[in-house]
Formats: sequence, C-alpha cells, structure tokens
Amino acid sequence: MDTNFEIFLSIAPGLEAVLLAETQAAGFENPKITPGGVTCTGDWGEVWRANLTLRTATRVLARIGEFRAFHLAQLDKRSRKFPWADVLRADHPIRVEVSTNKKSKIYHAGAAKQRVETAIKETLGAEISADADICLKLRIDDNNCVFSVDTTGESLHKRGHKVAVNKAPMRETLASGFLYEMGYDGSQAVLDPMCGSGTFILEAAEISAKLLPGRSRSFAFEKLATFDANVWQKMRSQPASQAQLQFFGSDRDQGAVRMSQQNAERAGISDATLFQTGPVSDLQRPDCAPGIVIVNPPYGARIGNKKLLFGLYGALGKVLLERFSGWRVGIITTDAGLARATGLKFKSEGKPIPNGGLKIRLFETGKLP
Ligand SMILES: C[S@@+](CC[C@H](N)C(=O)[O-])C[C@H]1O[C@@H](n2cnc3c(N)ncnc32)[C@H](O)[C@@H]1O
Repeated sequence: MDTNFEIFLSIAPGLEAVLLAETQAAGFENPKITPGGVTCTGDWGEVWRANLTLRTATRVLARIGEFRAFHLAQLDKRSRKFPWADVLRADHPIRVEVSTNKKSKIYHAGAAKQRVETAIKETLGAEISADADICLKLRIDDNNCVFSVDTTGESLHKRGHKVAVNKAPMRETLASGFLYEMGYDGSQAVLDPMCGSGTFILEAAEISAKLLPGRSRSFAFEKLATFDANVWQKMRSQPASQAQLQFFGSDRDQGAVRMSQQNAERAGISDATLFQTGPVSDLQRPDCAPGIVIVNPPYGARIGNKKLLFGLYGALGKVLLERFSGWRVGIITTDAGLARATGLKFKSEGKPIPNGGLKIRLFETGKLP
C-alpha cells in the first residue's frame, strides 16, 4: 500500500461545503467535495488526525487498495493475493460490506461478499463476524473493486463524554456544522434558549477552548495493523486553552438543564458554560458582547401540536427582537412556516439536511436591529 492514499470523510448530505472548509483549514491535502462527503489524501497519521480533530465529519474511510474483476472467480483469486496483513489483523474479527452497481459484471453483492470473506479467513486467518468492530467495505463500480476500511467505528458524533441525552438531541457533528455555517470561529458568545442536553453550547465552548472532539473516545483504527500507540498518544494529548464564560444554555425542563451541566463537566468546559432553568419568555440578555443565538425548538410531527408550536416560535422571536439587538440568530427547524412565525427576517434559508427521518434547515438572520 502506498504511503499516501485516498481518505474519504463522510458528512450528512447538504453540509459537504462546511466539511470542505474545515478540512482545508486543518491542512489536509487535496480536499475535494464528493457526494456525501469530502476526499483528501494522506497517510495513516492523517487518518488518525481526521478522526481526532474534525468536528463535522461523521466517519473516516481509508482506501486500502483496488483491482479490476469481471467475474467472481477473478474476485476470489485477486482477493486471495491482496496484502490484507498490511492493514488488518488476524486477532480482530472483521465484517465485510459490499455494494455493486449495474455497470459491473459482478452484480450479486452477496456472492462477492462471500468470496472476500473466505479469502480473508483463509489467507489472513481472521474471524468473520457480523458484529465485528472492524468493517471492510468493497465497492464494485464499473468492474473496479475498491477496498476501504472504516477507521472510525462508532459514528464521530459520539464524542465519548456525553452520558446523558434528552429526547431529541442534535447530533454533535451537525451542531458544529450549523455553528460553522453561521461563521462561528470560537471567539463569539453563544446562547441556546432551548438547549436540551446542551449540544450547541458544548460544541461551541469546545471549539473556543481548542479541545479535540475525539479526545475522550476510542476508534476502530486502534485495532488495525497500521496503528502506532506511541505516535497516537502524542497526537491526542494536545493542550487546550481556557475558554471565557460566554456559553449560555437554558431550557424550561429542569432535567435537561441538569443533563447539560453534567455533560459540560464531563467534557471539562463547565467553567465556560452557564445553564439555567426557565421558559424562553423569561430569557435575559447576558452581560457580554453580542454573539450568536442558535436554537432548534421542538418541531413535532403531529398536526395537533402545530398551533402550540406557532405560539412558541412567536414567543421566541418576540423575546429575541426585544432583548437581543446586535446578536445574530440561527433557527434550525423542519418547517419554513414555523421559522417565519418568529417574525425574524432571515438572510438565508439553508439546504435541507436529513436528521432522524426529517429534513432540517438553518434559518439565519443578520444582526438583529
Ligand atoms: C429539539 S429539543 C432541543 C435539543 C437540543 N438542541 C439538544 O441537542 O439536546 C427542544 C427543547 O426545547 C425545550 N422547550 C420547549 N418549549 C420551551 C419553552 N417554552 N422554553 C424553553 N424551552 C423549551 C424542550 O424542553 C426541549 O429540550
């Protein structure tokens, strides 16, 4: 395998440009947008760095090799010759996933999977298991067989220091994506008046403190043959800086506020955050320079709830217009009608992003008058 290879970073469709900007800013080589993500090039160190440092990517795949195969016997033969031991280990079970398309002569994904599994079992000696942590992906496109390893394991939105979540938490990767879309760079104050488990506030405070998003979790790449524990240890122990107390969350649900507080403590940023219980109608402007209000109010799919929701969005807009002059606002919701019920003037309505079976969008204002 070459020292440098293609790395694929996935993200929720619609946020590729945000990931591209993050990848460029972090200095990854040759980043380019591709459907569902961004590709770049690098070595195994760059794979670890991508998993550890990128806030908006959901997964990091390493492209470990390719060959052409026009029928199953050829796939079988070439898979047996593939240098699996360069990347995979015989002592960790492996799961194989195959996708193929109509442009390829091998069209039966199940049969292709069986050939690759048998080759790995018989040449490398690794166990094949449907629950394995290590996932090898084969994509057959136009008779080209491309092998990638999922180096992440559990999705990157699981930062590893949040134990408590409420009913409808925003995924951390999306929360950071929306913050970056609003031009957040770690220096501005951030406030979420319906903070739930505190995702926006935690992500914003961590960005400000330059904390690495993957610092508290493990990754699938730790179980690959290419892993070097000493280099990794050095890479992940980067010092953080102190963030100012300018990250404010509130929610009418006391349990949610307690959760947010606990999550901030586990993440090591509780000195920079303040969580309070209270309805949005009681919201007060914090004593700091104007920053960003970012919020995803409830959007309930049930029709009966709609009327109440219009009232809630209206109350939110009224409070923001009355008390948050100079702040910018981002509202994440499924329904343009609900967003407009705030009475706020939006300068942009973002692309629809799939989230939990619904499509959500960021409605963004300029500075409030
Ligand atoms: C979709 S959730 C927000 C999830 C949050 N972004 C997270 O990542 O966990 C909506 C939140 O709005 C809160 N909420 C609903 N009505 C409210 C009100 N009138 N005032 C304050 N909070 C309210 C709910 O308690 C709930 O936690």
